[in-house]
Amino acid sequence: MRTVLVTGGAGFIGSNFVRHLLAHTDDHVTVLDKLTYAGSRQSLADLPETRFELVVGDIVDAHLVDQLVGEHDAVVHFAAESHNDNSLASPRSFVDTNLVGTFTLLEAVRKHDVRFHHISTDEVYGDLDLDDPARFTETTPYNPSSPYSATKAGSDLLVAAWVRSFGVRATISNCSNNYGPFQHVEKFIPRQITQLIDGLKPHVYGDGRNVRDWIHVDDHSGAVMTILDKGVMGETYLIGADGEMSNREVVAELLTAFGREPEDYETVTDRAGHDLRYAIDSSKLRRELGWAPKYADFSAGIASTIEWYRENESWWRPSKSATEAMYGRQGK
Ligand code: NAD
Ligand code: DAU
Repeated sequence: MRTVLVTGGAGFIGSNFVRHLLAHTDDHVTVLDKLTYAGSRQSLADLPETRFELVVGDIVDAHLVDQLVGEHDAVVHFAAESHNDNSLASPRSFVDTNLVGTFTLLEAVRKHDVRFHHISTDEVYGDLDLDDPARFTETTPYNPSSPYSATKAGSDLLVAAWVRSFGVRATISNCSNNYGPFQHVEKFIPRQITQLIDGLKPHVYGDGRNVRDWIHVDDHSGAVMTILDKGVMGETYLIGADGEMSNREVVAELLTAFGREPEDYETVTDRAGHDLRYAIDSSKLRRELGWAPKYADFSAGIASTIEWYRENESWWRPSKSATEAMYGRQGK
């Protein structure tokens, strides 16, 4: 039986990954999570106690990290400050968690020679023009725009250096925008779904032409599991499901699902430095490791996500008013 330490496993993608791993393997999972505003015990509440444990703690805590890493066969590192808007308002915790936290984990996996998989983002590559036929590949130069993406880019470079200089057994994946259950209401799709449940209008930044490349969170989990099992040490894999859509198109899809007019949204203050377009070429992962996404139909994925937010109001309702108050102060 393999033992896996999952950092940030009480967050959106981490909790979905833990559920995916427990369903598809015999692994025992320990989650290390600080339970910031973005983490929730409730996201892990239904998991079997015999195969799963939650340790509440900080990845910057070198003593705790050293002890936990030494007790596991592999580490999958999701923990991060993850929201661009927060990084513009208050970048300090992004440097602490995303850079110092990743450094702390790398020192522990180096000492104990433990397999490490680092979760990163397509935002490290900056953005593409709307009419550019190019997509990001593993060789696209790093060019991050926000404090969030700059700290994620720095964390990727730390991993690469620990591989080359110290022989750490690590892989990196850079994924596009995820959607699905358990995503915090600060993020684009859950914010608009919960606005619509409340009978309010979606809020679209700027002109809404910005494009994101959407992937269902369960497809991200499957890809990470594939890389954990079959990835070549030192390699980077891009994860994406050919899901490019403008923010206006996504909002139109949501409004239609609620029986509203597709243009019935408010345009609000744009994000500073707002990246125009992300697009992933995931052919390396598909060709070399045989991964393929399962959620081909965005409308069906969105319908089941809406259903989840309708059925799990007790999960998101406590965060909604504070999140909207925060956006209100920013004119968003
Ligand atoms: P999230 O904000 O929902 O969850 C982050 C989790 O990390 C939370 O549970 C939080 O409590 C925990 N955490 C934060 N600081 C910590 C610390 N110092 N010590 C321990 N735990 C801490 O984020 P998410 O959207 O699930 O993203 C997870 C990872 O995936 C991040 O590394 C992010 O950069 C990456 N990623 C996200 C997306 C996306 O679309 N959301 C896409 C690609 C990559
Ligand atoms: O690309 C991967 C990244 O995707 C991850 O690394 C990040 O952790 C994750 O948060 C996400 O970043 P984005 O900034 O793309 O996601 P967000 O949900 O914040 O916004 C998606 C798009 O929607 C973006 O163009 C901004 C816009 N937006 C967002 C919100 C919250 C709106 O128009 N209105 C909104 O209310």
